[in-house]
Amino acid sequence: MNPTAHQILDHLATAIVIINDDWLISHANSAAENLLRISKSHIVKRQLSEIFTNAGILEDAVEIAKLRNASHIEHELQADTISAGTLYVNITFTPLGSSTLLEFQPIDMQLRINREANMRAQQQTNRELLRNLAHEIKNPLGGLRGAAQLLMTELDSTELRDYTRVIIEEADRLRSLMDRLLGPSRPPRFAPTNIHQVMERTRSLILAEFTAVKIKRDYDTSLPEIQADAEQLIQAILNISRNAAQAMQGEGSITFRTHIARRVAIAGRQVLLAIQIDIMDTGPGISPDIINDIFYPLVSHREGGSGLGLTIAQSGIHAHQGNIDVESQPGKTIFTILLPLSQASVASRLV
Ligand SMILES: Nc1ncnc2c1ncn2[C@@H]1O[C@H](COP(=O)(O)OP(=O)(O)OP(=O)(O)O)[C@@H](O)[C@H]1O
Ligand SMILES: [Mg+2]
Repeated sequence: MNPTAHQILDHLATAIVIINDDWLISHANSAAENLLRISKSHIVKRQLSEIFTNAGILEDAVEIAKLRNASHIEHELQADTISAGTLYVNITFTPLGSSTLLEFQPIDMQLRINREANMRAQQQTNRELLRNLAHEIKNPLGGLRGAAQLLMTELDSTELRDYTRVIIEEADRLRSLMDRLLGPSRPPRFAPTNIHQVMERTRSLILAEFTAVKIKRDYDTSLPEIQADAEQLIQAILNISRNAAQAMQGEGSITFRTHIARRVAIAGRQVLLAIQIDIMDTGPGISPDIINDIFYPLVSHREGGSGLGLTIAQSGIHAHQGNIDVESQPGKTIFTILLPLSQASVASRLV
């Protein structure tokens, strides 16, 4: 069976509204429903001015497109809507016989998508560079350690044996640092995962390590399961929560929050539905000197920190096609993880 034109429109990520000669809306697709935050049944058969309080600007643009009998684009329009407030959009107006097709491109979404895609590409390059470097450092370490071990068995003097012990211990420390830098040794194993089980497991690990820390939960228990590697997600959320607990000197309160996010930018594309996990703490906040670099390896402001916790967390989330971001000020730091819902989950959530 071939899909109908309306079915095709419904599967587009771009918001589409079709109006007829009398400014009456004859069709709106699912993306328009999301953008305007109003159900299709409330958009269709309404006047354009009943949805957009400044419909005059749109009507003028429709007239221009009709006059030229060609597509006309209005850039950086401010569209005031009754249901979704003010939207900043580029709109393409295309005349189609007695109707006109309006395509909406939200601008801030486009900017965020570009920024995110650039950042990810840059991080990918840096990560590759460091991985190669870690490999190069790791290779001779085995030889170095083996030689020191041999030397130890040959030496009679305890004092000299102590020196070889230092070589062995430092080689081991460097190797474990390089192993963390190289990331997980196995690819992720995806299985249906309940995100709240992941959160609860992380919570109990943190509470066992930091006995004076409290973790409040604010969960949306209606969230569907996702395809995920639970161990990797626990590792990511644990690293973030551990930083939070350390920043608060082992006491204070962390909040775990989960909910659905709509129309978000992840890895250079627009995702209709995602699971959002917020990890908030009331600590001193992230120093402005490093806030833009904290996901890079070896960036640390913590005594004894190796600066790899957040790099590992980010790699784990990226392996799930997700995104991780942070906002911080003294007294309030929020790490936000977005995990896209699979098409199957999206469908079941929308019905
Ligand atoms: N919630 C937070 N509040 C304040 N600062 C934070 C927070 N989370 C991270 N940071 C800062 O970001 C830095 C990087 O964190 P990251 O977890 O990558 O490395 P680390 O904690 O220093 O070392 P480790 O590899 O042991 O995790 C920390 O050193 C800290 O200065
Ligand atoms: Mg850390």
